[in-house]
Amino acid sequence: MAEQPGAPMVELPEIEVVEAMEDAEDAIRAQEPLPDAIPILPLRETVTYPDALTPLAVGQERSIKLVDDVLGANRMLAMVASRDPSEEEPGPDQLYDVGVVGVVARMMKVPDGTIRILVQGTNRVRIGPYVADTPYLVARIEELPDRIEATPELEALTHNVQRTFSEIIEQIPYLPEELQMAVANVDDPAALGHLIAGALRISTEEKQGLLEEVDVAKRLRRLSEILARELEVIQLGSQIQSQVQSEIDKGQREFVLRQQMKAIQEELGEGDEQQAEVNELRERLEQANLPEDANKAAERELSRLEKLPPAAAEHGVIRTYLEWLVELPWDVRTEDNLDIANAREVLDRDHYDLEKVKDRILEYLAVRKLKPDSHGPILCFVGPPGVGKTSLGKSIAAALGRGFERISVGGVRDEAEIRGHRRTYIGAMPGTIVRALRDAGSRNPVFMIDELDKMGSDFRGDPASAMLEVLDPAQNDTFRDHYLDLTFDLSEVMFIATANILDTIPPALLDRMEVIQLAGYTLDEKRHIARRYLVPRQIAENGLKPSKIEFANPALTAIIEEYTREAGVRNLEREIGTVCRKVAREVAEGRARKKVTISAKRARELLGKQRVYPEQRRRTEDPGVATGLAWTPTGGDVLFIEATAMPGSGKLSITGQLGDVMKESAQAAVSYVRGHSDEIQAGLAADWFAKHDLHVHVPAGAVPKDGPSAGVAMAVALASLIAERPVRNDLAMTGEITLTGQVLPIGGVKEKSLAAQRAKIKRVILPARNEADVAEIPEHERAGLEFEYVEHVDDAIAAALVG
Ligand SMILES: Nc1ncnc2c1ncn2[C@@H]1O[C@H](COP(=O)(O)OP(=O)(O)OP(=O)(O)O)[C@@H](O)[C@H]1O
Ligand SMILES: [Mg+2]
Repeated sequence: MAEQPGAPMVELPEIEVVEAMEDAEDAIRAQEPLPDAIPILPLRETVTYPDALTPLAVGQERSIKLVDDVLGANRMLAMVASRDPSEEEPGPDQLYDVGVVGVVARMMKVPDGTIRILVQGTNRVRIGPYVADTPYLVARIEELPDRIEATPELEALTHNVQRTFSEIIEQIPYLPEELQMAVANVDDPAALGHLIAGALRISTEEKQGLLEEVDVAKRLRRLSEILARELEVIQLGSQIQSQVQSEIDKGQREFVLRQQMKAIQEELGEGDEQQAEVNELRERLEQANLPEDANKAAERELSRLEKLPPAAAEHGVIRTYLEWLVELPWDVRTEDNLDIANAREVLDRDHYDLEKVKDRILEYLAVRKLKPDSHGPILCFVGPPGVGKTSLGKSIAAALGRGFERISVGGVRDEAEIRGHRRTYIGAMPGTIVRALRDAGSRNPVFMIDELDKMGSDFRGDPASAMLEVLDPAQNDTFRDHYLDLTFDLSEVMFIATANILDTIPPALLDRMEVIQLAGYTLDEKRHIARRYLVPRQIAENGLKPSKIEFANPALTAIIEEYTREAGVRNLEREIGTVCRKVAREVAEGRARKKVTISAKRARELLGKQRVYPEQRRRTEDPGVATGLAWTPTGGDVLFIEATAMPGSGKLSITGQLGDVMKESAQAAVSYVRGHSDEIQAGLAADWFAKHDLHVHVPAGAVPKDGPSAGVAMAVALASLIAERPVRNDLAMTGEITLTGQVLPIGGVKEKSLAAQRAKIKRVILPARNEADVAEIPEHERAGLEFEYVEHVDDAIAAALVG
């Protein structure tokens, strides 16, 4: 039995070509007409067609004998497919009835004893009856010619078959490209059918069916059905294939890349380390209990980190980012201590007096206690330096049992300082809010926004609007830092702001805050603060013991009056510190045996040259000088207004770095005094003002001064000048004037009265409408001061001038 075609013949060098016909066609022509009976070569699992050149491997003994015999004769045999491929030596019953007569064109012997033949098919024949079965089958044959009729349908079928087949060829790798050319060139429909049927891998039954069909049109129709079906199967197959392939490709690619990465990391000795790092971060992330969106971001970054080699620049950036995420107190809270009595104790322990402020703080805590979710207003402590704003904030945090962080926004001009830079910036960092959160370690600390009044703004964005978002309870639960690119809920943070002055705080911010003013301290209060807080602290800080050093009251007074000039107590504490340090040195050197008592004299010895002089008396000796009271960011201060006249033509010059408002009040003062000169100085020449130039000067030119409240003092100075009577040297004044001499109320009464006390002033002239403000100052804070209330500048002049 011959086997199916396929074994390559030419490429087997050991094959010995025994017989070859130069031209098979000659042989075919030579064979006509067909013989009656012919040897039958059974085919297993294949069907050949007329005109086809079929390679066959022949292994069975009876078939080898058959080939041998026909080669010795006319070379003709008939090839018939077997119905049962499992049958080794099929008999006539197992063979189909239709086969193909062929001429053996070549024969080759293979060393294993089998042979290969190449058979050129010629005619389709009906086989039977059989006339012999040994040594091989021999049967009679009858030619089966095609039935063909040239109809348009046949033509259409031909084209259809050609087209479908060429589509199939394009998609099937086992069909050679040349076949396409061959199919295109065959225009005989019958031959076309055979050619294509021979090339297809379809079942033997189907192939046989095509062979047996003598009606060409019918054959092509069946063929075209088969082709259509095949094409569909192929297309479906390739679709599935490409889906599967792309799945495989993706998985494969990632797998391969990961393997490579692992290999590289191992080579560099960093694989395990990196994995350990990632694992550690992942563990910490889990513990940090991030909210959902943050967690998502973290996971994303983590998987990026896993893939990056540690040497990549990105690696460090991502790592730092993840560290930030891990370290933020997403889910850490401290328990509030809302025990009011305890809070009172803590506030008293740390601060002297400040009763009003403490009361307000306790009220605030009480409301929180009753209504835990209330946001309450943001407290803003306003006052001069060193009055205890920052330290009050610390005490509040301590009383509540919360963390405390100070965020200084003074000088901040860039929004990014508050909100951070986007991560695309090199060296990007979260803003100060997120940094403080990390440092606080809980999501409900006390944040002290310091120096809110000194926040700037420029082209880099407005930090005030970022601050607004931070402080506004309506928005701060979704505060977004640019670096994190995530929102953090700040609603549980307690904000306290501080400022020296109110004017420069952006109004939108001021609106959301409750301002608590701290004006400064009197001499007496300062002494108390020093004794109870500053001295013990400085003694401890300089390594001394209370048993080694003691400050006498006059010493504290001397330090306060001669070495400091401030509303608060910061410099006082520094000077006390200096004294302690010097005593510490004496003790360390063994010079101080017993307890050192600091007297005023001793304090002066230790502190050296006096730094602050009471200049009041000396300054106001001459007519034309009045003492004003000013309110400045560092608290209140005294201000000397000097007026002089010189022969001239009625010009007015104003110097001393005065702001516009202050210049205007100087002009108003001049106008008033000029208009009422005869009341002030009866004998003054009518053309005195026309023949003199006036100069108003406010010394300490480096300090910018503004505001209308020096009006009264300017008028008094000018009145003193033309009246040639000096102003009382124990008197200071403040008040705005109108052109008609009305005195209007001013602000900062408490600060100004404290400044007057510091300057040893005894009497203060105030606008009548400020009387209520004075009533609000605790009695002990205005001890030794006498207030005179005036409605008109004439009253002030009358009270101020000597004689
Ligand atoms: N009433 C007070 N009782 C006890 N100590 C006080 C009092 N007021 C201020 N101090 C102390 O004075 C020092 C300076 O106070 P603090 O730093 O709070 O000033 P501040 O108002 O924040 O000033 P700045 O505006 O300059 O920030 C602190 O050591 C503080 O403890
Ligand atoms: Mg402060």
